[in-house]
Amino acid sequence: MAVKSEEISRSHGKSTPQKRRLRSNADVVIHESPVSSPSKRKSPRRCVDSSPNTPTNGIEKLEKECKSPVKKNTSNNFSEKPNWNPRDIKQTSAVKEALHLSTAPSSVVCREDEQKRVFDFCKTCIEQEKAGSLYVCGCPGTGKSLSMERVKQCLVDWAKEAGFQPPDVLAMNCTSLAKTSEIFNKMMEKTLPRKKIDGSTPPLQHLQNLYSQQQQSLNSKMMLIIADELDYLVTKDCAVLYDLFILTTLPFSRCILIGVANAIDLADRFLPRLKSLNCKPMVITFRAYSKDQIIRILQERLMAVPHLVFHPKALELCARKVAAASGDMRKALCVCRSAIEILEAELRESTSNLTSFSTDKRQKTSIACIKTQENDIVRIDHMAVALSKAFRSPIVDTIQSLPQHQQIILCAAVKFFHGAKKDTTVGELNKSYMEICKSAFIPPVGIFEFLNMCIVVADQGLLKLGQSRDDKLKRVILKVDEADVTFALQGIRFFRNCLQ
Ligand SMILES: Nc1ncnc2c1ncn2[C@@H]1O[C@H](COP(=O)(O)OP(=O)(O)OP(=O)(O)O)[C@@H](O)[C@H]1O
Ligand SMILES: [Mg+2]
Repeated sequence: MAVKSEEISRSHGKSTPQKRRLRSNADVVIHESPVSSPSKRKSPRRCVDSSPNTPTNGIEKLEKECKSPVKKNTSNNFSEKPNWNPRDIKQTSAVKEALHLSTAPSSVVCREDEQKRVFDFCKTCIEQEKAGSLYVCGCPGTGKSLSMERVKQCLVDWAKEAGFQPPDVLAMNCTSLAKTSEIFNKMMEKTLPRKKIDGSTPPLQHLQNLYSQQQQSLNSKMMLIIADELDYLVTKDCAVLYDLFILTTLPFSRCILIGVANAIDLADRFLPRLKSLNCKPMVITFRAYSKDQIIRILQERLMAVPHLVFHPKALELCARKVAAASGDMRKALCVCRSAIEILEAELRESTSNLTSFSTDKRQKTSIACIKTQENDIVRIDHMAVALSKAFRSPIVDTIQSLPQHQQIILCAAVKFFHGAKKDTTVGELNKSYMEICKSAFIPPVGIFEFLNMCIVVADQGLLKLGQSRDDKLKRVILKVDEADVTFALQGIRFFRNCLQ
């Protein structure tokens, strides 16, 4: 049976509210992670009555989606729809709903490949009754949680249809754990739900014992653990994190662990140690969405609406800006909703102006009709206002008012930290700064002046400088969102090229 949109939406409805960090400036809504409470299933270890060869819609659907390339044409779907009426409350709320962060889209486009890789990994684990671990990482708003939710549904459906016993599913947002080691209590509850657990043995030890003894572990089902926001398990010694991954390597382990995090550098920090412990997970990276992908996702979400709401150029502007800044889908959705609100406000204003200036009833109606026709879809100018509202922050103003060399330092820091590293030294940052100056034929300042400028930039709260006797070895951390720097400097061609 295919995983239908309604099923996904239903599971979202059931989801347990989770604490969540605010991810991006435009994201004023605290989005609850789509983690549904694991459903209770009574199923035999292997369902003999269903054929293992039966083609399964879960895989078929994922595979079919994998083959569909990103559509470049943005206008076709739109021109066929009638324009919406932004004064119709029903229509506006339907559009806002389609673009709402907590609305599960009917299909998750542009993540087919990543989903398939996760799905195939889990499928192999189930087929071979083998434990394993995956580490899913990527920047905020790149569809990791959404994709894991979908893979989870597809996997359970596939297992049922293919005649395998569906795994127990433990999907959680680690931010909801009272303390990091609580994850083992949750695993215990899942593994031995009704069994009386000897309180004197810590849950971790129970699990270690269980997965070390063949007889005991054979009686338990495979367990799919989706640990979203895994970065919350990072402590000084990362003990819980290591213990968790090590559980998947015990000789009779039944765990398929998927750790999801948006800290790209987490992998650098803990993967080498896991490798030395011989339990390095497979890594799947969710890259930031490109302009075309953002357009495609917005189009797909807007398919649920029978009207034309946005001018294609307006959607394109939104996608271009968001892709250039962060590739964060959350931001794109928020900006689109905000553009609708700007259009609504404009219409309200024009109506009230008409009412106050015109006394002739008929004249009022005809002018209102013309205005409605002109204003009824979200245009590029509405989107531009929404974008500048979303990306404009006091930080953007501060960055824009910095002298050129300090802007180059920030630009160098963004280039340096992009993607992976979180901190560097003054000496390294200076090298990156010199390269930028060289490429633009701008004479660089000397190291002493460079350090002074770093201190000035740090005083503004944009960088953080560490302590060291040797100035060049002082650590530097970028204290602002890369997206804010990119947005602030993108008006200057030199920086735009440099940050691309
Ligand atoms: N491919 C997509 N299709 C439709 N909507 C998407 C897609 N990718 C992301 N979204 C939407 O963008 C928002 C953020 O997605 P999601 O929560 O999956 O991001 P994430 O990568 O888990 O971010 P974080 O690292 O901050 O947890 C959600 O509202 C989601 O519905
Ligand atoms: Mg997430």
